[in-house]
Amino acid sequence: MKEIDADIVNKVKALRETLHRHNYLYYVLDNPEVSDAEYDRMMRELTALEEAWPELYDPDSPTSRVGAPPLSEFETIAHSIPMLSLGNAFTDSEIIDFDRRVRKILGTDDEMLYTVEPKLDGLAVELVYENGKLIVASTRGDGINGEVITANVRTIRSAPLLLQDTEKWSIPLRLEVRGEVFIGHEGFRSLNEEQLNQKLTPFANPRNAAAGSLRQLDSSITAKRPLEIFFYGVGETDLRLKSHWETLQTLQELGLRINPLIRPEVTIEEAVDYYKALENKRHLLPYDIDGMVIKVDDLSLQMKLGSTSRSPRWAIAYKFKAMQETTRILDIDVQVGRTGVLTPVAHLQPVNVGGALVRRATLHNEDEIERKDIRIGDTVLVQRAGDVIPEVVKVIESKRTGVERIFHMPLNCPVCDSTVIRAKGETATRCINATCLAQLKERIKHFSSKGAFDIDGLGDKLVDQLVDKSLLASYADIFYLDAVKLEDMERMGARSAEKLACAIEKSKKIKFNCFLYALGIRHVGEHVAKILAREFKSLDNLLLATTEQIGAVEGAGSVIAESVVNFFKQNTNRELISRIIDNNVCILFQTHEKEKTLEDKVFVLTGTLEDLTRDQAKEMIEAAGGRVSGSVSRKTDYLVAGSSPGSKLNLAKDLDVEIIDQATLQKMLGM
Ligand code: IVH
Repeated sequence: MKEIDADIVNKVKALRETLHRHNYLYYVLDNPEVSDAEYDRMMRELTALEEAWPELYDPDSPTSRVGAPPLSEFETIAHSIPMLSLGNAFTDSEIIDFDRRVRKILGTDDEMLYTVEPKLDGLAVELVYENGKLIVASTRGDGINGEVITANVRTIRSAPLLLQDTEKWSIPLRLEVRGEVFIGHEGFRSLNEEQLNQKLTPFANPRNAAAGSLRQLDSSITAKRPLEIFFYGVGETDLRLKSHWETLQTLQELGLRINPLIRPEVTIEEAVDYYKALENKRHLLPYDIDGMVIKVDDLSLQMKLGSTSRSPRWAIAYKFKAMQETTRILDIDVQVGRTGVLTPVAHLQPVNVGGALVRRATLHNEDEIERKDIRIGDTVLVQRAGDVIPEVVKVIESKRTGVERIFHMPLNCPVCDSTVIRAKGETATRCINATCLAQLKERIKHFSSKGAFDIDGLGDKLVDQLVDKSLLASYADIFYLDAVKLEDMERMGARSAEKLACAIEKSKKIKFNCFLYALGIRHVGEHVAKILAREFKSLDNLLLATTEQIGAVEGAGSVIAESVVNFFKQNTNRELISRIIDNNVCILFQTHEKEKTLEDKVFVLTGTLEDLTRDQAKEMIEAAGGRVSGSVSRKTDYLVAGSSPGSKLNLAKDLDVEIIDQATLQKMLGM
C-alpha cells in the first residue's frame, strides 16, 4: 500500500480550507477574491489528489457536490417546529391593518419596527447543522412532516456543507435553518436549453424547474441543476438571539447566504415604500420574486404574537399583482410567421395582468389547442411571464355554457390564400408560398431586429407599409431606401425619415454572426450564428462548406447543416446577399482569436453609449472573455456608464464598483 506523505495530507487539508473560504466569499459575501478560473484550478487540483488518495475521502470536502446513489423513495422527517406558511396581503391598506392588528394584540401604540425581505418564488426547505456540519435537509412537506432530501441539498453550492467560524458559538451547536431553494433566470435559460438539446420537455418556469430538481430521487441529476438558496429564518436552535435581523446577520456570519435586499428596522410606512421599490426593480433581479415579506423584528414580541394553526401573526406576505388572470377568448385568428408557420392567436377580453393590459395570447399550434381543449368563447387562465408573449395556461371548464366553438386551422394561408400543409411528425402548419407577403414582412422585421441589423426606427407598422406600397420586396431593398422615399410614408416627417436613413447607414457595419442571424436561415438563431461565425470566420468559407463540415461543428449538427447548405444553394438567396453587399454593407469578420483580455471580468452597462448599442458593447466584452450582467452587485468589476445613466450608477458608487465610459472600455478592448 502507498504510504501517504504528510505533505499531501496537509496540501489536501489546506486546499479544502481555502476552497471553503472562497465558497463563503463568493456565495455569502458576494465578494470573491479569486477568479473563477483560479477557483476551478484549485478544485481540479483537490479532485486529482482525492482521486489519487481515496483514503483521504471526506464527505464534507468542497468536491463532494456530485450527488449520491439514487433512492427508491424519500424518507419523511418531522420538523421540530412546524414550518408555517404566511398570510397574504394584496393592498397597502391590508398592510396598514396588519400593523394595527399587531399593535392591538401587543397592547401598544408604539411604532413597530419590521424587517422587510423579498419573497422568493421557490421552495421552502429546512437544513439541520450539528457541530457545524450539515446533517439533514428536508422539504417543507405539509409543514409538520417533510421529505428528507439531504443528498440533493448537498449538491447546492450556496448551501454550505460546513458552517463558518463555529468556534465562536457554544458547541455542540444544533441549528435548524430555513430558506428558499430556487433557480435563477440565467440558470433556467441554460437548463431549458440543455433539456431541448437532450430532446426533453423544457420546464414551464423556474419554480417548476427548481421543484423538479429538488425532488429528484437521483441526486446526481440534481447536481447538474443550477439550484441556489437564500436563508431567511431558523427553526430550533441554541443560539441566543434577540431580533430577526440579528438572526439573519448571525446566519450570514455562519456562512449561510441571506438575500442582500433585506432591510432591517423599517416602520410600516417605510415597508410600503420598500414594496413599491421592490416591485419596480423586480424585473431587474436575476431570480423570480412574488412579493415582499414583512416580519416583526423583536423576537420576544414575535413570541407574544404567536401563530394561528397556519401562519404566524408576526409576519405577512405582501404579494405582487398576479401574473395570471382569467378572461374570455373572444375569437381566434391565425398569424403567419417569417418561416411560413401559422400561429393561432387568441383575442381576449382585455384583462390587466400584473399591471399590463393583455388583449392577445399565443396558442402556439393546433396540437396545443387540442391538448388544452381551447375553444372560442372559453373562459381561460392567461399568464404573462417577463418579456414573453402572454399564453393561455388552461381552460376553466366549469365556466362552459355550451355555446363555445371548436377552432379549426384554416386550409389556406390567411394572407396569400395558398394551400397550407402540415408535414408528418411536425406540429407546425405552414404556408409554403415563398412570395407570401406575410412571410416577407416577418423576414424583414427579423432582419432589422436587435441582434441582427438592429435598425432603430424601422418598426413593424412601417415595414408593413413599405411592403404594401411595394418599396420593399426583400430585405435587401432596405439598403436602397432613402429619406425621400421614406418621407412618403404615413406618420413620417422629414426629420424621422432622415433619422431612419441614418440608422440604416449605421447598420451597414455588421458583425458576421449578426449578419448570419439576420438572414433568417431556419434553425440558425443567435447562438448558432455565433458558433458558425467563429468556426468559419468568413462568408466565403461558409458558402463553400459542405453539410458534413458544418454538421461536424460542435453545437451545430446535421439538421442545422442541411438548412444552411440549402439556404445558400438557392440562387434567390445568393442574389439577395449580393444585393446587400453591393450596397456597401460591410461584414466585420473576426480574423484571429482575440486575446481574452477581459477574462472573468464582470461588466454592467447603463445609459446610452456614444456610438455603440448595448448589444454591440456586450458582444465585444464577451469576445474578450468578459461577462455582462444585468444588475450591479459586489461581483461587478466595471460599470460602463453612458449618457442618462439609470439607478445602476448610484448603486455602483455605493458598492465602490469602478465606473468607466465608452472610451475607456474601448481602450481596454484594445480598440
Ligand atoms: S418566512 C413562518 N421569508 O413563502 C414564516 N418565507 O407562504 C415562514 N418565502 O413557505 C416563512 N421568501 O417558502 C419567509 N423571505 C421569506 C420568504 C419566504 C419566500 C416562502 C416560503 C414559505 C412561503 C410562505
